[in-house]
Amino acid sequence: MCGIVGYIGYREAYPIVIKGLKRLEYRGYDSAGVMLYDGENLKISKTKGKVVDLEERATKEISINGTIGMGHTRWATHGVPNDVNSHPHLSNSGDLAIIHNGIIENYAPLKKELMKRGYVFHSDTDTEVLVNLIEEVQKKENFKIGKAVQVALNQVVGAYAIAVFDKKNPDEIVAARLGSPLAIGVGEGEYFIASDASPFIEYTSNAIYLEDGEMANIRLHKPMKVRKIKDDSLVDPYIQELQLNLEQIEKGGYDHFMLKEIYEQPDVIKDTYRGRLHANEGIIQMSGVEDNLEKFLNADRIIIVACGTSWHAGLVAEYIFEEFARIPVEVEYASEFRYRNPIINSKDIVIAISQSGETADTMAAIKLAKENGAFVFGVCNVVGSSISRETNAGAYTHAGPEIGVASTKAFTTQITVLTMMALRLAKAKGTMSNTDFHRYLQELEIIPEKVKEALETNDRAKEIAAVFKDAPNCLYLGRGYNFPVALEGALKLKEISYIHAEGYPAAEMKHGPIALIDEHMPVVVIAPKQGHYDKIVSNIQEIKSRSGKIIAIVTKGDTQVRELADYVIEIPETSDALSPLITTIPLQLLSYHIAVMRGCNVDQPRNLAKSVTVE
Ligand code: F6R
Repeated sequence: MCGIVGYIGYREAYPIVIKGLKRLEYRGYDSAGVMLYDGENLKISKTKGKVVDLEERATKEISINGTIGMGHTRWATHGVPNDVNSHPHLSNSGDLAIIHNGIIENYAPLKKELMKRGYVFHSDTDTEVLVNLIEEVQKKENFKIGKAVQVALNQVVGAYAIAVFDKKNPDEIVAARLGSPLAIGVGEGEYFIASDASPFIEYTSNAIYLEDGEMANIRLHKPMKVRKIKDDSLVDPYIQELQLNLEQIEKGGYDHFMLKEIYEQPDVIKDTYRGRLHANEGIIQMSGVEDNLEKFLNADRIIIVACGTSWHAGLVAEYIFEEFARIPVEVEYASEFRYRNPIINSKDIVIAISQSGETADTMAAIKLAKENGAFVFGVCNVVGSSISRETNAGAYTHAGPEIGVASTKAFTTQITVLTMMALRLAKAKGTMSNTDFHRYLQELEIIPEKVKEALETNDRAKEIAAVFKDAPNCLYLGRGYNFPVALEGALKLKEISYIHAEGYPAAEMKHGPIALIDEHMPVVVIAPKQGHYDKIVSNIQEIKSRSGKIIAIVTKGDTQVRELADYVIEIPETSDALSPLITTIPLQLLSYHIAVMRGCNVDQPRNLAKSVTVE
């Protein structure tokens, strides 16, 4: 959470920092701030609100020139979002400025100690404690800024990606990371610092991703030095060539990133299986699975750990792995798993699913699993992310940058990867007939076409959205493979439209939720022809007899549900196991249109952030 950007070079820093902050706003958007250095003055402007609010303020408040700059967009952890708590924070002398993404857990005792030594604090943040701690170390030991940062960081407990500027050493920015991501763009005579590479892709395609526990002295006209925070040893940094392009991180004519990302799904699902799925040859090839096939075949069980939408993809995978490969699967919220002293052993395979690859709870669950001897396989979208590096092996989803805070294409591409894995294991274990194996491969290959067809429900979803946009509550019901889709549909609606929504297995309704149903309650029922169709028809009848308003997702040509439902959305036919890839599409569109009609900020819903790097 929080996005940080820094620039040191020969260009004007302000436009680079502001544009960079806008690209990182998905990481947090409570407040924003900028620091500029023009060779003489260190200038700061910050405000509660979004980056556009900052722009308005900064241009009035400070002169925006200077070739060194740092910026921050915040998702509040310590202290409410207000002007004072916004970053950058200054040290008491006014010489040091810091931007920080993360949490300093032991900030309270450090603050107390610093106060005893006369330090005064203006904000409620842990970050202001850190910058003053660095200043205290610097003063006491007469250290240069890099050394002072290193010594101070060895005294803090927590997570951070920071950039620190010292007016007394104005040709240098010091960056460091532990538990929060940090990329450094390496240009000709200039450097960029950011939470991900998006702020600098138009300037350089060379990037260094700092590893956990590393810091960098980024100096003008001198080579950059990377070292370990703990023992000061120098590290030879690996410079990567970025695959990202500008088009991928722009809206491309769509009103919102979320809509663009919904519409990208046919293409990105293809990208996910490209080179891995060879339907005509009857082959699935995924190097992460292939290299560890024995481990998978000998596994006693698979434990899936994830959060939010990724957890829902994990639930779909539970059904798929158990049916296809006959391997027992447990799906856990990473946040619960990490603290409940779970039984893990060396014959367990843990699959960690994460779009961002930075989710703190998922990361902690991975570490716990590894400590207990499990083999951990990552399914991540962001290439080079912390989780992708921490896991023993993995498969990327190749969905491209997902910027809308509500996850859409990440979900369907995660399911695509997990389905391919289950099919590969089913083949190796002989738990699926050859005919079925080939049928699934063929079907998966044409899924992008069906997703495209499902996207044609957009107008229908919009019409239905207009009817239900003011509903205070909504229920989502599904069975089997489509129970997790019901959960995901409800999550999408609540997070972007703020309508209270719950997902249930359709048959569970009788055990409580049915009490909620009356003529005001919209109930979205996922009722494709495959699966437990007759059962779900009975569930729909139960809702109808209590006057609930039924919105049904049905297979094209369905007549039975059409007779019962108030509204239907028709989707193309697929097998039961692959249906989540299709049924989820109209639910994404429905939530999107409802949120737009309610005037909500679809891409940046309140209180949320794209990448949850704090627990
Ligand atoms: C929902 C959403 C979140 C994330 C969750 C996990 O639309 O985006 O629920 O799915 O925070 O994030 P990752 O997948 O990055 O670990």
